[in-house]
Amino acid sequence: MKDTQQEKPLWWHKGIIYQIYPRSFQDSNHDGIGDLNGIIQRLDYLQWLGVSAVWISPIYPSPMADYGYDIADYCAIHPLFGTMDDFDRLLEEIHRRDMKLILDLVPNHTSSEHPWFLESRSSKDNPKRDWYIWKDAKEDGSEPNNWLSVFGGSGWEWDEDTQQYYYHAFLKEQPDLNWRNPEVQEAMFDVMRFWLDKGVDGFRVDVMWHMVKDEELRDNPPNPEYQEHMATYEKLVPAYSTDQPEIHDIVAKMRQVLDAYDERMMIGEIYLPVHRLVTYYGSDNNGAHLPFNFMLVNQDWNARTLSLHIDEYEGAIPPGGWPNWVIGNHDQPRITSRVGYSQAKVAAMLLLTLRGTPTMYYGDEIGMRDVPIPPEEVQDPQGLNMPDKDLSRDPARTPMQWDTSEFSGFSDTKPWLRLPDNFRRVNVEVQKEDEYGMLSYYRRLIRMRQEEPALHIGDYVPVITKGSLLTFIRKHEDRQYLVLLNLSHRPSLFRPEHANYTGTIVLATDPEREGARVEQNISMSGDEGILILLD
Ligand code: NOJ
Repeated sequence: MKDTQQEKPLWWHKGIIYQIYPRSFQDSNHDGIGDLNGIIQRLDYLQWLGVSAVWISPIYPSPMADYGYDIADYCAIHPLFGTMDDFDRLLEEIHRRDMKLILDLVPNHTSSEHPWFLESRSSKDNPKRDWYIWKDAKEDGSEPNNWLSVFGGSGWEWDEDTQQYYYHAFLKEQPDLNWRNPEVQEAMFDVMRFWLDKGVDGFRVDVMWHMVKDEELRDNPPNPEYQEHMATYEKLVPAYSTDQPEIHDIVAKMRQVLDAYDERMMIGEIYLPVHRLVTYYGSDNNGAHLPFNFMLVNQDWNARTLSLHIDEYEGAIPPGGWPNWVIGNHDQPRITSRVGYSQAKVAAMLLLTLRGTPTMYYGDEIGMRDVPIPPEEVQDPQGLNMPDKDLSRDPARTPMQWDTSEFSGFSDTKPWLRLPDNFRRVNVEVQKEDEYGMLSYYRRLIRMRQEEPALHIGDYVPVITKGSLLTFIRKHEDRQYLVLLNLSHRPSLFRPEHANYTGTIVLATDPEREGARVEQNISMSGDEGILILLD
């Protein structure tokens, strides 16, 4: 199935993806931890907001060493989150509202308590031994190579009983599967079919670029750009432990599994530079539908850098490939904490007017900030393992702020992570009443994007500007929008040199500007974004 935008636009071309971190969205069973029934209770809100698809981080049985990214059974639901019946009801309720459900698939590693690993570690000649990456020690007893764990320390763990090391890119409780083994591939394809048969609409595939490792397990080279404040993992360039050429055949096989069903999609979580990233579309688009593009998360927030990267990305996408943009997720500081509250409005306009599927993170629509978590309350293993480096992801994983009640409507008991001091001001209930607030603004942007073909399937045309303005045009047939974004706090003047733009402001960070006519030079306030329908 080829799905170019020239042919029929599919749901993810038009759609907006909303990520839910299930522990933190809505608790329904009074334990301070979010669950599936809680999500069901909030679906009307998501429909009102206007998003088209929900991606939920892992909900499977797990010892929770990495909060669900250590899976002990791929085809069941963790009792903390509910039952399989609850899941079926969630899926049905999502579909009833014409929305889609995307599950998190974690194929790179299992939990060390998964029955596959228990078997694999039981003896050297167990039939599942080769399902994981086992290797003898070097002669001096040290690790087979220098690979490091993303979460700190060595990537190898010694197994006393069977006298070999196993490799784990993340925690030692997350042993990496050996994707060179065809039985592993088949087992994971069966997992995909299990959920696809139920009717889920797609997967977000965890750390897709980690899945295959160098066959000879060669040492990674040192990173000359390493600095002390960085995670220890960054001491080396992961040239042999990630992004290996053989990954593309495997992704293509995963895609074949999906293509046996109607309109299902696959997102790849891939942190790579643009020219490596786009290879994950596959040859002739037989790879991931959306290799996640994290440019808005990890590039410096200035007009010059971003416009360069946007143009580079647009130019690098293969014919028939569909772009996408991510503003935040459960691993990154929130947008409001990276660029500030006023600039976060500009970021929202950028996310929702660029060409390509936008992915937003729960709570961004009300301007939730990273919440400071005192050291004794830190839960995230990345934060706990490298306490001096300020790498905990907890601040961006705090409970959704719904209302002014004691636990902000998230739960009726103390939540697993604390709420911020300002939650009685910053919450859905209060912002629903504020036509100038972040929520109303997000909702209008979402609606505008959904309704206007120029904004969801239209072409992207760069407009060269100087200084702090990021500017581009989206157009479809005879409708053209000019997007003007001031990435600075200070005023700026849009002074086009080679064209004459006249039109009407249809949406603005300051709604007072809406309806005004503009022509030629346009004065912009600091932190301002405007969307102009050109004549
Ligand atoms: C990426 C996930 O987004 C992150 O939360 C997790 O810790 C690692 N993969 C390991 O699964």
